[in-house]
Amino acid sequence: MSFCFNFDLPAQTTSPADADGNGLQNRKKDNKTISTGNNTKPAEPVKEAKEHHPPSSPHLQVVDAVFETVTVGALPPLRFLNETVFEKTASDREDGENILLRTAEQRSDLISGVYEGGLKVWECTYDLLELIERDGETFGGKSVLDLGCGAGLLGILALKRGARQVHFQDYNSTVIEQLTVPNVMLNCQEDDEVDSDDDKEGRGKEKTQQQDVSRRKNVKEDVEDSNPPPKKSAVDTSQKPLLTKCHFYSGDWSTFLALVLKTEPPPKYDVIFTSETIYNTSYYPVLHETLHKLLAPDGLVYLATKSHYFGVGGGLHLFEMFVEQRGVFYVDHLWDGDEGLQRHVVVLRLKKSKDT
Ligand SMILES: C[S@@+](CC[C@H](N)C(=O)[O-])C[C@H]1O[C@@H](n2cnc3c(N)ncnc32)[C@H](O)[C@@H]1O
Repeated sequence: MSFCFNFDLPAQTTSPADADGNGLQNRKKDNKTISTGNNTKPAEPVKEAKEHHPPSSPHLQVVDAVFETVTVGALPPLRFLNETVFEKTASDREDGENILLRTAEQRSDLISGVYEGGLKVWECTYDLLELIERDGETFGGKSVLDLGCGAGLLGILALKRGARQVHFQDYNSTVIEQLTVPNVMLNCQEDDEVDSDDDKEGRGKEKTQQQDVSRRKNVKEDVEDSNPPPKKSAVDTSQKPLLTKCHFYSGDWSTFLALVLKTEPPPKYDVIFTSETIYNTSYYPVLHETLHKLLAPDGLVYLATKSHYFGVGGGLHLFEMFVEQRGVFYVDHLWDGDEGLQRHVVVLRLKKSKDT
C-alpha cells in the first residue's frame, strides 16, 4: 500500500519545546481554530467532539460489505472494509464532512484540520499488531482506548481478546460512521470466538514464538494482494454482544478529552493505542494532555510511529523530546525497525510521584 503525503500543510518547523504547555485551554481560547502554520489559508475550526451511537439496525451497514481479512500469526483474524471498494462507493455514503470527495479530488491522505488520515490502515498499525502477537499481550478485563483509530483494527483486536470495554476515537465523524463502526460490526460475527480464558493463560505467547519469522509476510500477502480475495458479508449481524462494550467518538483531541471527562465516572484506560498520530508537532500538547489525563496509573500507551514524517515535520525524536520535557511519562522502545523509512513501537508509562 502506498501513502501519499500530499499534505495540505506546510512543513512544520515548530520545535515541540515551543509548543504551548496548556494546549487544551489555549486552543479553546484561540477562537477554536487549528493553525496549520500557513497564514495564507483560512484556519479550520476545531472539530467538536461527539459520541456516535451505532444505528438501530446495525446489520444493514455491513450487509453485502466487501471486506478483507488480516491475519497476524496467532492473533484472531481481523476484518475491515476493502479500501478500493470503499473508495469506489464513496459517493453512495453519507458524509456530512464532505471528506470522501475532497480526499479523492486532492489525492491526499491527510488535509490538516479537515481530514486526519483515518480512511486508510497505516502501516505502523501492522507493526503494533505484530508486536502484540510477539509479546502475547492479551486484554482480558481491560479498558482500552484506540486513539486516532481510523479503521480501528487495534481496538478491534482488544475487543476480540476479551477487553472489558473499548473506546474508539477518530478526528472525523465520517471515518467513525462509515469505517470504524462497520469494521467493528464485521468483527462481531457470532461465529467469532472471543479469546478469553486461553489467552489469559498465555496461549498467544507460545504461538507467537513459533510463527515469528513468517509474520510480516503473512500480513503483506493478506493486505496488499488481497489474497484470498475480498469477501462479501452474508452473516446476520443483528446480535452483537461485543458491540455493547464499545463507545465511538469523533472530534479533535481537546474537545474529545473534555467530553469524556464529563462522563461519570470519567474513564481511565489500562491500555491506550495510538498509531501514526505524532506527525504534526502542533498537536503534541493536546495529545500529551489527553494521554496524561486518560491513562490509568499503571496503564500503558502503545505508540506506533515512523521516525519522521516528511512534509509535516513530526516524528518520534521530536515527540520523545516533548515527552521528556513534560516529565510525566517514561518512554521505552519495544521495537525499532530498520528497513526503509524507520518505524518504531514505544510504550509510555506514567511516572509515579515518588519518581519525579
Ligand atoms: C494517520 S491517521 C492513523 C490512523 C490509524 N491509527 C492507523 O494507524 O491506521 C491519524 C489519526 O490520528 C487522529 N488525529 C490526528 N490528529 C488529531 C487531532 N488533532 N485530534 C483528534 N484526532 C487526531 C485521526 O483520527 C487520524 O485518524
